[in-house]
Amino acid sequence: MDVNLEELKTELRGKSPTTIMEKALSLYGEECVISFSGAEDVALIEMAAQTGKPFSVFSLDTGRLHPETYRFIDRVRKHYGITIRIISPDRKELEAFSEEKGLYSFMEDGHRECCQVRKVNPLKRVLGDYKAWITGQRKDQNPSTRGDLDPVQEDSFTGLNGEKLIKFNPLADWSQEKVWKFIRSWDVPYNELHDKGYISIGCEPCTRPQQPGEHERASRWWWEEGTKRECGLHK
Ligand code: ADX
Ligand code: SF4
Repeated sequence: MDVNLEELKTELRGKSPTTIMEKALSLYGEECVISFSGAEDVALIEMAAQTGKPFSVFSLDTGRLHPETYRFIDRVRKHYGITIRIISPDRKELEAFSEEKGLYSFMEDGHRECCQVRKVNPLKRVLGDYKAWITGQRKDQNPSTRGDLDPVQEDSFTGLNGEKLIKFNPLADWSQEKVWKFIRSWDVPYNELHDKGYISIGCEPCTRPQQPGEHERASRWWWEEGTKRECGLHK
């Protein structure tokens, strides 16, 4: 199906996350996939389930997630009775990288290389099976890198058959508080790390609990500059 992106953008601007979710699933069905990190983006799965339409979900298993996050992903799978594709890094690429640079090179020369091998390359591979994807990005997560996020956009990665890929960001305009209000009001299961002081959750070695007065994003790759705190999944 050929979607007129400009018309879709106009239609979805200012709309609620559930309306955006409904639209994404009506247009693409299971050819549209939710990218679930195992954090508060579980709200997307609840919204998709509420539409009653079929949907797809994947998680990128970097091999470095917290045990709590692994447990949570499995809890979500059972709670909603859904299949979650668990996507691993390419074995050869990962083994070569770990052999050459060890397991903590990101602390010495930045997280880009490790994120490329463990997250971005696996993401590119899985997106090749879909026409559209849905993420839990929000503007308020990082005003310097996500401040102008649209609810729908053409992605820089390609999708099924190497064709263009549409990306939906239903939570773009929502604040952290709104997401949590939604989770609480629908009694959505959440990652137990959130009760241990974690706000933004990524890989275990690169995430710490939020420090007093700190912005949520500051707890990710905290040893690097704020403008570099993106892993390359979203360009
Ligand atoms: S990241 O780029 O810094 O790692 P962030 O943690 O803010 O991303 O999450 C933003 C969105 O990216 C999530 O809501 C989710 O859609 C996607 N995402 C991040 N990490 C993963 C993951 N491990 N598996 C699947 N999707 C992910
Ligand atoms: Fe590697 Fe850290 Fe990126 Fe995870 S977040 S892929 S451990 S650099």
